[in-house]
Amino acid sequence: MEVIVKESYDEVSRLSAELIADLIRRKPRAVLGLATGSTPLGTYKELIRLHKEDGLDFSKVTTFNLDEYVGLVHEHPQSYHFFMWENLFKHLNVNAKNVHIPDGTAKDIPEFCRKYEEDIIRAGGLDLQLLGIGGNGHIAFNEPGSSLGSRTRVKTLDDRTRQDNARFFRNMNEVPRYAITMGIGTIMDARQLILLANGAGKAEAIANTCEGPITAIVPATIVQLHPKATIIVDKPASAKLTREYPAEPHVLVLA
Ligand code: F6R
Repeated sequence: MEVIVKESYDEVSRLSAELIADLIRRKPRAVLGLATGSTPLGTYKELIRLHKEDGLDFSKVTTFNLDEYVGLVHEHPQSYHFFMWENLFKHLNVNAKNVHIPDGTAKDIPEFCRKYEEDIIRAGGLDLQLLGIGGNGHIAFNEPGSSLGSRTRVKTLDDRTRQDNARFFRNMNEVPRYAITMGIGTIMDARQLILLANGAGKAEAIANTCEGPITAIVPATIVQLHPKATIIVDKPASAKLTREYPAEPHVLVLA
């Protein structure tokens, strides 16, 4: 696990976009796992810039999103479908057929979740999963106490997560109570993980994730077991770390 501390959110976003772009340049048919929320917005802006200015080609890329609220139609402004098309996909040359986002309106949700797992495998598995982190240490909507081996399924959202996300809805009653989410086992199967965090509100979750014991109470701590995980944080999110961390990824230079 590599922890990188950047001066600013912009620098966090640039590095994370560069790592994703590097994968796509090496593997044009890359399978990306994507996240929503405010954290990856800077990364998405930078990917859009790389597409428009440097010709980064998404035409063969396949994507799978981490999660979606149960009950929100795709056109709902707070649905993750809407978020992903508005903030990323509509600005890229991505093929809509290669875009996968959990369907919160599916009639048979357990069957949908089973098929989502199958579709990831059929696509060749996730090459890279981009993650944010909840203030409570959740990844995707795997709330504290989630099984560390879990697969895609429905989860009840924690009160804290609902409160954190209430800013996007008119009132608390409108905040969905359930979400479909990739499981922790699903995420850990990705060949590479990039976890981003910015702001002081994430400092405790980041300290636990990087330096605490692995526990289902802080689901993100599982990334310590991943063979290729990069955690990129800005200064405020790094405030509770006790060790020194570099500002650049480790590059092995062979003579
Ligand atoms: C979103 C997701 C969530 C968020 C987390 C942080 O797809 O999986 O785990 O990454 O709640 O959200 P923000 O970035 O809004 O602080």
